[in-house]
Amino acid sequence: MIGYGVATSAYQVEGAVDEDGRGPSTWDEFCTRPGAILDGSDARVACDSYRRAEQDLELLVGLGVSAYRFSVAWPRVQPTGQGMVNAAGLDHYDALVDSLLGKGIRPFPTLFHWDLPLELEQAGGWPHRDTARRFADYALAVTDRLGDRVSTWATLNEPWCTAYLGYAAGVFAPGARDPSRAHAAAHHLLLGHALAAQAMGEQRPGCDVGIVLNLAPVRVEPGGDPVAADLVDALQNRQWLDALVDGSYPEVLPARSAVRDGDLHLIRGSADWIGINYYTPFRIGTSEQTSGAVGQDTGAYPGAPAFSFRPRPPLTTMGWEVDATGLEQVLRETARRAPGVPLRVTENGVACTDSGGPDQDRIDYLDCHLAAVDRAAAAGVPVQDYFAWSLLDNFEWAQGWTQTFGLVAVDRQTQQRRPKASYSWYAEYIAART
Ligand code: FCB
Repeated sequence: MIGYGVATSAYQVEGAVDEDGRGPSTWDEFCTRPGAILDGSDARVACDSYRRAEQDLELLVGLGVSAYRFSVAWPRVQPTGQGMVNAAGLDHYDALVDSLLGKGIRPFPTLFHWDLPLELEQAGGWPHRDTARRFADYALAVTDRLGDRVSTWATLNEPWCTAYLGYAAGVFAPGARDPSRAHAAAHHLLLGHALAAQAMGEQRPGCDVGIVLNLAPVRVEPGGDPVAADLVDALQNRQWLDALVDGSYPEVLPARSAVRDGDLHLIRGSADWIGINYYTPFRIGTSEQTSGAVGQDTGAYPGAPAFSFRPRPPLTTMGWEVDATGLEQVLRETARRAPGVPLRVTENGVACTDSGGPDQDRIDYLDCHLAAVDRAAAAGVPVQDYFAWSLLDNFEWAQGWTQTFGLVAVDRQTQQRRPKASYSWYAEYIAART
């Protein structure tokens, strides 16, 4: 049976950036750079969820979700990214886990959803091998405290974004534009995941440690360059799956000087499950055509011949094409590629206006994507959970507060939460399924 939940991440909802000894993260710094965030905003206050956990919990209860995907902020647990653990930071997640369990909701934490402690970035960040070891230490500190009550963990959220939007395209923190550093970051993220999974398994035998990837079907439009499409597919999809399943990297990618003996052996088989965040398929067009899609930056695919993204209408306010068949396709292909590995849809959702009536676009989006998950499951794909993104309208990274992915609207002045029509719709859907 599929479990139904909702997802958020620490930096996007918590706020309280100076509370209880939290250290600065790369995103705190990135938000201060002129032009980095579309509306010039930041997430210092965000949805104030750090202080309003109980209120958010009531919203989860009202939905009837079986699980809540949230992330643990590394700079709360280790303000400088290494060494001494800040007990007050861990207390917050400890209490959250207890409250969730008390309400019969499974806590489903992600250890890294992009908020790297700033000091680690200043010491070299993910392109630097030591960050992988630091991540494993941090993971152990968290599981040491919460592992008696939490058994299923996600290590990283969308390492492709951290590596290529962060270090190649420069549109996400830390805002670097250096393809060779991006490739090194990609390898060290996978290494960090594998070192953490190994250490966690030794500390708590039987714990269930997976990774969350943003996989997307890559389709070539008329006139689009198949060579560009192949490279996009290799960077977006195959490098993660090949490394995790076979312990290799696609040959089409440049040789990785960051790889040392034994790394790929450690990475191979290190994911007990694979999480898929799916929003849209990718269509590859010619270089002359323009993309218009937010967050699809061709600079994030170093080495690809000139190309553009060509999403087909209907488009969301992110400029992303709506196509639920892509979710079924990605689930089936991942199941074929990683036989026997349980899959989860760890994010799926839409930022939209109310063009089709109050929140109707979101209801339609969720409805057809949930049906796609059912089709994949009926075809034998071992899909275990589905998480809608997101519980709340929140800080959408480089898009700031311009995008609304929530089932619940948040008044940014009063912090009042207002459930949308999709909230009631999802609650009814879950009730009918459970
Ligand atoms: C994903 C991120 C998530 C959110 C959605 C819209 O890439 O994991 O934090 O921003 O996109």
